[in-house]
Amino acid sequence: MSDAKSVHTPARTPVFGHGIEYARDPISAIEKWGQQDDIVRLEYPGQSFYLVTGPAQIQEILVKKHGQFTIGPAQRASFQGITDHAVNMSTGDDWQRRRRAINPAFTGDTVEAYRERMIAEVTASIDAWDDGEQFDLHKEMRVSTMRMLADTLLGIDVRGDEDVIIAASDSLIDRANFRRLGRYLPDWIPTPTDRRFEKKVRALNDYVGECIEKRRQGESGEDVCSLLLEASDKGVLSEQEVRHNLVGLLLAGTSSPGGSLTHAWRLLDEHPSVRRSLEAEYEAVAGDDGLDPEDIDELVQTRNVITETLRLYPPTVGVNREATEPVTIGGYEFPEGTQFIMPQWVPQRDERFWDDPEAFDPGRWERDADRPQFAYFPFSGGPRFCPGKKVARQEMIIALAEMVGNVTLDVEVDGEIEFTPSMTLRPKTKHRATVRR
Ligand code: HEM
Repeated sequence: MSDAKSVHTPARTPVFGHGIEYARDPISAIEKWGQQDDIVRLEYPGQSFYLVTGPAQIQEILVKKHGQFTIGPAQRASFQGITDHAVNMSTGDDWQRRRRAINPAFTGDTVEAYRERMIAEVTASIDAWDDGEQFDLHKEMRVSTMRMLADTLLGIDVRGDEDVIIAASDSLIDRANFRRLGRYLPDWIPTPTDRRFEKKVRALNDYVGECIEKRRQGESGEDVCSLLLEASDKGVLSEQEVRHNLVGLLLAGTSSPGGSLTHAWRLLDEHPSVRRSLEAEYEAVAGDDGLDPEDIDELVQTRNVITETLRLYPPTVGVNREATEPVTIGGYEFPEGTQFIMPQWVPQRDERFWDDPEAFDPGRWERDADRPQFAYFPFSGGPRFCPGKKVARQEMIIALAEMVGNVTLDVEVDGEIEFTPSMTLRPKTKHRATVRR
């Protein structure tokens, strides 16, 4: 057994430690450090943490010893004072109770019941695209998927109100940007970015409050809001917890599916034979009448494209955890309070687990492969895994299939793919798309 002090520390600069290299290019930095060992120690001004990239060690933290961990301070700070009663902010018994209350809204059968409306939402978005029209691909993918999610969560058509949700989600990403100097100031010095964040999230909070009120006065529908209100009627959740959870779900779920579809379209544009196979799949499964809810499980190749896109471009920078007591991971002993970050990017492209790891090869998901479970974990794992996993996968499969089946998007990219260094790996590079019907 070795002490945490003997964990390898990659080369760093004197005052800022690993901070500058990370802020300059987060992906290259974590790739370089992650290749040095399965656990390495990183130093930032005033703090240190451990980058964990070995699947066995990740499994130890997220599954085997999950009871010795809680969410990291970066996640708590992001939502503090805004959605304090939401599951993504909670710890201990509160987290258990809230998570148990929201889980029924995200089980297999419940999520399948959202299919029909998801198909209708994305079809309406596609019908509005004109032949020859050009748009910002990332923005359009976010808006299309956000309409599907808002319908699922709130049972409403958000057309015309999209900005309320997008502005709140953007301000969250801006606030957590590692290059923002204000991020390193103490909490009692609010910066303009902090104030903008609070204002935008409060507007979203009010908007969700109005939706809940309408639901309370009208009939309940097949949506997450109705299920949470039922939980509140049974005394399992308070009204405030219902509202904070819906805001938290919208913030957690708005950004990633749109970013992933942007990558998927770029990859299809670069691999026309894969795109043609998806078109053929759509034609065989949906015919001329469009998709039916029961068709979704037959979209095997579309599902593989989404799975492979999430391997190459995992939407989150990594999963954070803090040890709540002394803990042994990978044979090293760490004291209480130690911070860990587990970036999906490194194991998901590690040649120990993947043939030709940098290649976009959706067919690999049909070939047998013996690899550790946590070589692939875009939605995390263990009891705290992403509750939106089924909704997000279903939403992306439906959106991609309907788009590929009805239009072709020619994608132009402004230079190398870069990301905003924040809590998600949001594409920063401009993607322009031209619609061909
Ligand atoms: C491509 C899409 C998505 C990806 C890759 C993703 C990934 C993740 C990851 C990695 C976590 C951290 C889990 C952990 O700490 O162990 C997480 C948490 C969470 N996600 Fe997602 N997510 C996606 C979409 C969604 C959607 C659509 C929703 C809502 C419907 C959602 C709701 C949440 C919530 C509420 C949490 C916090 C869970 C908790 O703390 O118990 N996510 N997600």
